[in-house]
Amino acid sequence: MAKELIRLSGCTMAFDGEVVLNNIELSINDKEFLTLLGPSGCGKTTTLRIIGGFQKPTSGDVFFDGVRINDVPPHKRSVNTVFQKYALFTHLDVFENVAFGLRMLKPALSKGEISARVLEMLEIVSLKGFERREVISLSGGQQQRVAIARALVLRPKVLLLDEPLGALDLRLRKDMQNELKRIQQAMDITFIYVTHDQEEALAMSDTVVVMDGGVIQQIGTPEDIYNEPKNAFVADFIGESNIVDGIMKQDGVVEIFGREFKCLDAGFEPNEPVDVVIRPEDVDIVATKDGMLTGTVTNVTFKGMQYDIIVDFKGFKWLIQTTDISPAGAKIGIHIEPDGIHIMKKSDYSGMFGDYSSYSAEYDDLEDASLEPEEETAGDYDE
Ligand SMILES: Nc1ncnc2c1ncn2[C@@H]1O[C@H](COP(=O)(O)OP(=O)(O)OP(=O)(O)O)[C@@H](O)[C@H]1O
Ligand SMILES: [Mg+2]
Repeated sequence: MAKELIRLSGCTMAFDGEVVLNNIELSINDKEFLTLLGPSGCGKTTTLRIIGGFQKPTSGDVFFDGVRINDVPPHKRSVNTVFQKYALFTHLDVFENVAFGLRMLKPALSKGEISARVLEMLEIVSLKGFERREVISLSGGQQQRVAIARALVLRPKVLLLDEPLGALDLRLRKDMQNELKRIQQAMDITFIYVTHDQEEALAMSDTVVVMDGGVIQQIGTPEDIYNEPKNAFVADFIGESNIVDGIMKQDGVVEIFGREFKCLDAGFEPNEPVDVVIRPEDVDIVATKDGMLTGTVTNVTFKGMQYDIIVDFKGFKWLIQTTDISPAGAKIGIHIEPDGIHIMKKSDYSGMFGDYSSYSAEYDDLEDASLEPEEETAGDYDE
């Protein structure tokens, strides 16, 4: 059974009266890989610093294993941190970098014990045989692994990682994502990971915590967050989304652009205005006569696995991902299965995201179109 290890209860952080974390409620389980995900300035590092004990919340409590630890200093928490700028000791070799913390322990460990623990750790991070290498002679990814070994050799219950792969190139990041996941499983401890990269968060985590403006927007598995985003911010931040206005006619039926679509969602008021998310990969292109809506392709980009096409439905531009060629200028029909439509409550983020008009050269035309009242029920099916 999952066991709670850390809990933030009503944690608020203000600097000079400016609130940067607002009433954070977060429970983190033992052996969980949990990721704090959100744009720059949303409060990820501040949350991590509160867990690590480097920062005291302005109000609220932090619990570790059920014990309130607000006043426990960092070195007395069973938590270690790997920062983005991992300062390795450049005058020491790999072995001595990893051994450093162990040599500080009281009561002192024997030489043999230190050596055994360092070698075991280097094996786990795939740096066996690198003991006597100068750290400056290592690649970025290897240096990062030394930093991780140095933190893990002290056997913390929790490792905090603040954008640890930020400095690495894309290829190396992907390799290190797999490595980190493997290391976490090998060590069987809790990782709390910070990133602004949604792909990274989805690939590595058991649980993703999406933050914006100092507020937790959603907590869930990667699948939950992707398939059932709570609001337009989450839908937009996680992957590509078309987000359009809709009206929930009844359970399982939503009206979009004046047309009724079947969906799987229920529990809304009759005729409740809602935000509707349609992922680009969930739209099928069909003949115009068979389309639920018809539109005009305005832009085509080849992406290797698929084409990204922008389709204009009388002014509102959608992104559709398809393996079929539909050249710019083509009239197409679209079909969406009920499970490709996801309904969200209106929120403060409604209307802010999900429009792909800026992808298109016809941005100016769109601005004109949106001024005309008859364009409000878009889609040119009635032509
Ligand atoms: N010591 C401080 N004094 C004043 N403001 C601070 C302090 N630390 C953080 N902040 C502010 O709190 C907000 C959240 O900062 P935080 O570092 O937690 O963001 P972040 O999500 O980690 O962003 P990034 O992705 O850029 O690292 C920011 O507006 C930041 O300027
Ligand atoms: Mg940060």
